[in-house]
Amino acid sequence: MHFLKNGLSLAAVMLAVLQLAACSQEEVSGAELADGAAAGGDIETVYLRTCYSCHNSGVGGAPRTGDTAAWAPRLEKGMDTLVANAINGYRAMPPRGLCFDCSEEDFARLIKLMAGEGASTPSG
Ligand code: HEC
Repeated sequence: MHFLKNGLSLAAVMLAVLQLAACSQEEVSGAELADGAAAGGDIETVYLRTCYSCHNSGVGGAPRTGDTAAWAPRLEKGMDTLVANAINGYRAMPPRGLCFDCSEEDFARLIKLMAGEGASTPSG
């Protein structure tokens, strides 16, 4: 479960940095920290904040992360359809999957991550 470990250690680092910033007036860019977890940043962090809560355990019939067999029939619909269903909601899947600052591109990356394709597959 390296997702979880990375997420936790990142959170610990962020917390430490925030505490530092609170004690001294050192210049720590809050915007930079926020960007790291938001759209276009570390997609695993975004995943842990959002999709993880359902897609890790498969709650409500959610296709589980890394379960390529469960994702195969979903992927057959095409990435555009899956992104649209993630944004609009699909049966027990809530609209936007709890990620309100995700772009369409982020949803595509999250879906590839969960489907076990990795975050960066060459297009085509
Ligand atoms: C509250 C629980 C929950 C969260 C949070 C959640 N999902 Fe889902 N998701 C589901 C469930 C349940 C299904 C299965 C729906 C079905 O087929 O009945 C699903 C299905 C899907 C599908 C397949 C849709 C299809 O057309 O077959 C995609 C894509 C998806 N989720 C993406 C995401 C993404 C991306 C996130 C995070 C941004 C996310 N989900 C967060 C519960 C969740």
